[in-house]
Amino acid sequence: MQRVLMLHSSREGQTVKILRFMEQELGEGFKCELVNLHDDPKVELSQYDKVIVGASIRYGHLNTKLYSFIQENQKALTESDNAFFCVNLTARKPGKDIPENSAYIKKFLAKSPWQPKKIAVFAGALFYPRYRLFDRVMIRFIMKITGGETDTSKEVEYTDWEKVRTFCDILRAR
Ligand SMILES: Cc1cc2nc3c(=O)[nH]c(=O)nc-3n(C[C@H](O)[C@H](O)[C@H](O)COP(=O)(O)O)c2cc1C
Repeated sequence: MQRVLMLHSSREGQTVKILRFMEQELGEGFKCELVNLHDDPKVELSQYDKVIVGASIRYGHLNTKLYSFIQENQKALTESDNAFFCVNLTARKPGKDIPENSAYIKKFLAKSPWQPKKIAVFAGALFYPRYRLFDRVMIRFIMKITGGETDTSKEVEYTDWEKVRTFCDILRAR
């Protein structure tokens, strides 16, 4: 049985949903533990066979809690069998869901002292009714200029679950 640590930085829960899907997909033989990076967790990374970090983008940035965790655990992270994925809405566009083409991944790799062994980018979800007014107006504006959904009564999930499944095959292999 492999122990898998799933660390997440998520606001509306889509990143957590992706991790739960991965847990199902990895299936028997993997014991997964989800831990919220926003709680400043203290974890012994060496106790796990795999470490998977998932984080979402908000106004162009990954959460600072992700970076502080990386700073504090850089050595153990680097020594682990590790993976990182980023969730955002830009990745709903063809071609932007490839790490090499993602501005967010490029920025992350430039900023992070930890360079993940496996990297993925997944499209997230648009939950207009759940956003506070300011965010709803801002996201609608961004969607308007990027040709996305502008009906604020809608909730749209762009995550390509087949892509997540393919990444799980990569995760399964050491
Ligand atoms: C306030 C806000 C700001 C966002 N900013 C960006 C952004 O700058 N770029 C982007 O591609 N997606 C952006 N998104 C989309 C989120 O990354 C997407 O909804 C994702 O599914 C959120 O994942 P989470 O629920 O795990 O936090 C934003 C979403 C919200 C609510």
